[in-house]
Amino acid sequence: MNKFFTTTPIYYVNDVPHIGHTYTTVAADILTRFYKLQGLDARLLTGTDEHGAKIVEASKKHDQNPKEYADKISEEFKKAWKLLNIDYVRFIRTTDEDHIKVAQEFLQKLYDVKAIDPKPRLYTGLYCVGHEKFMSPEELVNGLCPDHKTKPIEHSEENYYFKLSEYKEKLEQLISTDEIKVRPESKKKETLGKIKQGLEDISISRANLEWGIPLPFDKSHTSYVWIEALINYYTYGSQNDFWPAELHLVGKDILWFHSVIWPAMLLAINEELPKEIFAHGFFTIGGQKMSKTIGNVISPGQLVDKYGVDGSRYVLFASFPFGEDGDFSWEYFDRVFNADLANGLGNLVARVAKLAEKNNLTAPEAPKDFDPKIIPLYQELKFFEAVEHLRSEISEADKKVSDTKPWELEGEKAKDVLEELVKKIQHIAFNLQPFLPETSDKILKQFSGPIKSAPPLFPRI
Ligand code: MSP
Repeated sequence: MNKFFTTTPIYYVNDVPHIGHTYTTVAADILTRFYKLQGLDARLLTGTDEHGAKIVEASKKHDQNPKEYADKISEEFKKAWKLLNIDYVRFIRTTDEDHIKVAQEFLQKLYDVKAIDPKPRLYTGLYCVGHEKFMSPEELVNGLCPDHKTKPIEHSEENYYFKLSEYKEKLEQLISTDEIKVRPESKKKETLGKIKQGLEDISISRANLEWGIPLPFDKSHTSYVWIEALINYYTYGSQNDFWPAELHLVGKDILWFHSVIWPAMLLAINEELPKEIFAHGFFTIGGQKMSKTIGNVISPGQLVDKYGVDGSRYVLFASFPFGEDGDFSWEYFDRVFNADLANGLGNLVARVAKLAEKNNLTAPEAPKDFDPKIIPLYQELKFFEAVEHLRSEISEADKKVSDTKPWELEGEKAKDVLEELVKKIQHIAFNLQPFLPETSDKILKQFSGPIKSAPPLFPRI
């Protein structure tokens, strides 16, 4: 395997980016940087999901047409990813012409192989625009969507159907044997459990929604937004000889679409399947769901203003294990930042550089490979565990400075002790590169050739 294709969900342009989107995108970037440093052709695809009722609603609120509104918000996403140093290969928009073309070809193929019923039939259901999906009455609380607190729309119209039910056995087999890895393990079990309960055919078109991609075989319908959105991965992959994706990284809210509906669509047209779908947990802010009404939404810009680019990338993953749910707060971020970066790494680098400079030390050669203990942690998306491992190496190095007191030593003795410490710092910086690209680079430059002191890397908050 010499390629690694990672994707993030494409984000709805109903609103500007927040740290939920940031979390997934930075994770995908960390992984892509890791594989690049391992010498693979690693590419990250991200972008925006711009069709559907949700976007129409949002654009109306802003007195703009959907395309104008999508242009504006997709720019905000691009800006955010630039700010956070996200190294993506393409920012795909579902309004891009090539995507529309590939999506239509895909839909036509589904129709030709009869995976889509030849004729539309009446579909009735309760549709939540916030989720852009149908919800069963059991999912509602007092008749409202529990996430959006809105009443779903009673939908009743002629729709085309995708025969999802036909893929039940095949999907069960592929997921249980890890031919499609659904991770973490708990999510694999959950998905298999749901598949076992049975799969129903799904509606894949809209007769009364213009803001979408017209079905190639019946232009009076547009594609259900989720169906064409999933195809975005294939738009890039198929056009660049880069399909299949090695990894679809998603939040747990949209795992079903990625682990069941998407593979079924690919099976129907006999295409290769993604290798892995990883669903990370959801976080709350200060114990509460992030919401505009509560006023606790954190933007990527706010994070960066406080912690800098690398600091922001770091604190998000140093707080709780990646697959699990967790809680964030500014106080918690501050604590992690100060403990790990200002007092931890930053302080260690400053102390050792100063002593090395005083002793005219020239740095040994920097490592060229990742620590074998860290490699599987990255591969399994155990970002928190990778951070913990490096955190303990930083404390060990700190302890070594305090125990050996290099400032009391002279000549070769001082140099030997300091050289060991410099090696440790180089090792830590090398292994932290995916999280802290700019800082690691700075450290590795500072600790090459004659070592000099430098301004603090992470001023305390
Ligand atoms: N447009 C669809 C995805 C289509 S992919 C073919 C969509 N967009 S979204 O804008 O709602 O983004 C959802 C994603 O944002 C989640 O899957 C998750 O990756 C991220 N998050 C949003 N809020 C989050 C939290 N509170 N916590 C963690 N991640 C969150 O769904």
